[in-house]
Parts: sequence; structure tokens; C-alpha cells
Amino acid sequence: MKALILVGGYGTRLRPLTLSRPKPLVEFCNKPMLYHQIQALHEAGVTHIILAVSYRAEMMEKELSELGNKLGIQITYSLEEEPLGTGGPIALASQYLGDADLFFVLNSDVICDFPFKDMIQFHKNHGKEGTIVVTTVAEPSKYGVVIYDEVGRIGSFVEKPQEYVSNKINAGMYIFSPGILKRIQLQPTSIEKDVFPNMAQEGQLYAMELKGYWMDIGQPKDFLTGMCLYLNSLSQKDKGSLTSGSQFVGNVLVHETAKIGQNCRIGPNVVIGPKVTIEDGVRIHRSTILGGSKIKAYSMLNDCIIGWNCDIGRWVRMENVCVLGEDVNVKDELYLNGGFVLPHKEIKTSVTEPQIIM
Ligand code: GTP
Repeated sequence: MKALILVGGYGTRLRPLTLSRPKPLVEFCNKPMLYHQIQALHEAGVTHIILAVSYRAEMMEKELSELGNKLGIQITYSLEEEPLGTGGPIALASQYLGDADLFFVLNSDVICDFPFKDMIQFHKNHGKEGTIVVTTVAEPSKYGVVIYDEVGRIGSFVEKPQEYVSNKINAGMYIFSPGILKRIQLQPTSIEKDVFPNMAQEGQLYAMELKGYWMDIGQPKDFLTGMCLYLNSLSQKDKGSLTSGSQFVGNVLVHETAKIGQNCRIGPNVVIGPKVTIEDGVRIHRSTILGGSKIKAYSMLNDCIIGWNCDIGRWVRMENVCVLGEDVNVKDELYLNGGFVLPHKEIKTSVTEPQIIM
């Protein structure tokens, strides 16, 4: 089995983190986003993964070669000279995909219990060209929804419906037979808008419903929601992998190389990355702290993503979706009420309204 993962987007909605690393390499629950997909594909029997890259390919190769060797997976980089969107990369990689019986195509920024084995079965059962995984959302009016019949045969797609037509949306995971390759031109193409509607019209596209949680973690608010869902799922499958102790509340994941002081209250829903230092009396709730950062004594974080190697002073209070880029320094006793701070900045005064600090 083969899989193509789309890793070439600029990830603008996850700035300032994506100013330092491509989105698929940003750690989600202490593993680069892409590792979650690659490990699940490996477990489903995939032996060759093609990464559709359009920029920062060297960084991707450097970080992934070790994982590929460890899992015994062949990783090929299919490099675009210009971004080809979500469809064009499939045409560019056709030399690798043409000889597969079936192949997966995935967005790199979705998190769920990946249903790869079920997808193979479902796809073989209907025997047509494509299967899209769909998931249920509470507010379908923000998304493109998928309309299909009782056996899953897709009839149409409706973009941002103002009246209720369905609450099922495309979950960014597909499995195809090589027949799809003849439909896609080698040019910037959206698979969702330029390819799927024709396939549906010809009865070649089916929807498989996802069981369990799902989140597109490509923007900060959803990244934090996805973190809560992932930790909850981990607590049901493998509670031992979460961190416990008198300073921890609810689902918390602390990297083994992190150092935690005394009298802290950490959790629920917190991820602490490698080589992070948390000093005494710190409180953290619903946040991710990325590698190498330091949170000094008595500070309090709620709904934050702290980028790599940041330094948060003493008695700081941050809340309401604050995202710090790499190497940001926040002075003692400040209050940050939401907003994004670009890498390598020093914050010397409180920020009471959410804003972008350049
Ligand atoms: P935003 O800039 O925040 O919208 O993020 P994005 O650029 O990643 O776009 P989006 O989240 O819509 O992309 C969905 C998936 O397609 C992600 O896995 C992207 O990496 C990938 N993707 C988007 N555009 C391209 C492209 O031009 N080439 C390749 N190879 N992948 C792409």
C-alpha cells in the first residue's frame, strides 16, 4: 500500500508557529503532526509514503529520515516548483502511484483515530474510484458538506449551506484506485472543487463515516480543541501514557525531559514538551508548551500555545488563545489577553486586547 500526504501548504492560519517550521512538523501532543499520520499508515500496512512538498523540503527530509528508517517505510519527496494545491500534487506523483492497487491521500493537519484499515475494506466493497472519509460537525454552515445516499454514494457537495442540508463534511482523508489519475492535470488544482464533483456525478465517489473524534488542527483555537480530544482519546486507550501525580489534574502529557517545580497545578488538558522548565507555583490549563521553553514561578497560563524556547517571566498571566512564536520573551508580572506574538520578540508591557505583535 502507498500513501500521498499533502504537506505543501504555507499554513498561514497557524502563524506564528509556521514562521519557524512547516505546519506538518509543528509538534501536536509532543509529536510532529505528520508523525501521527505516518505511524497510523504504517500500522495499516503502508510501506511507501510520498510527501507532496512545495517548500522547505530539506527541513522535512532531515526530520523524517530517522522515522522512516525506524519504521522501515520508504519516504519519497515529490517536490513542486510552484504550489499545485490539493489535486495537482497527485498528478505530479503519478509515477509513484500508478502501479498501486489503491492509495491513500491525506491532508497533514487532521487528527482522529485514523480509520485506514476500514477505508480499505469500504473502498473494496463498493469497487469504484474514490472514497472520502466524512465526519459530523455541529455547525455545517462553516464548511463544504457532502450529500450521499444510504449506501454512501455521493450525489453532490454544497459549500457553506445557509439552510440545513447535512452535517457531514469532508474529513481530509481519501483512498483512490489509480483510475483517478487520468482525471487530474499537472497544474494547480483543488481536488475538492475541480475533481470530486465530476467523480460524484459519474457515481465514482463514496463517503465513509468516521467514528469517534476528529479535528482539523490547522489554526490555534482548533489546535487546542484537538489537543483536548486527543488527550481524552489517549486516556481511554492508554491511560498509562498520560502523566499523573499530585500536581496534575485530568489529562496531562509531560515529556520525560521536562522539569516541573513544586506546588504547581497543571491540567486538565495540558501538553508539556521536551526540555521545558516549569518553576514553582505555576498554573497551566488547556495549553501546549513547546520544546525548550521556560515558565517562571507563579505564572498562570490558560488557552495558550507557547512556541519553542520562549521565556515567560514570574507572575505573568496569559489567557484567551495567546500564541507565542519561537523565542519570545515575556517580562515579569505582565497580562496578555489573547493574540499572536511573532518570533524573537520581547514583550515589556501588558496586552489587554487580542492583537498581532510584530
Ligand atoms: P492555511 O494557509 O492556513 O490555509 O494552511 P494550508 O496552506 O496548509 O492550507 P489547507 O489547510 O487548506 O491545506 C490542506 C492540506 O493541503 C494541508 O495538508 C496542506 O499542507 C496541503 N496543501 C495545501 N496547498 C498545497 C499545495 O499547494 N501543495 C501541496 N503539496 N500541499 C498543499
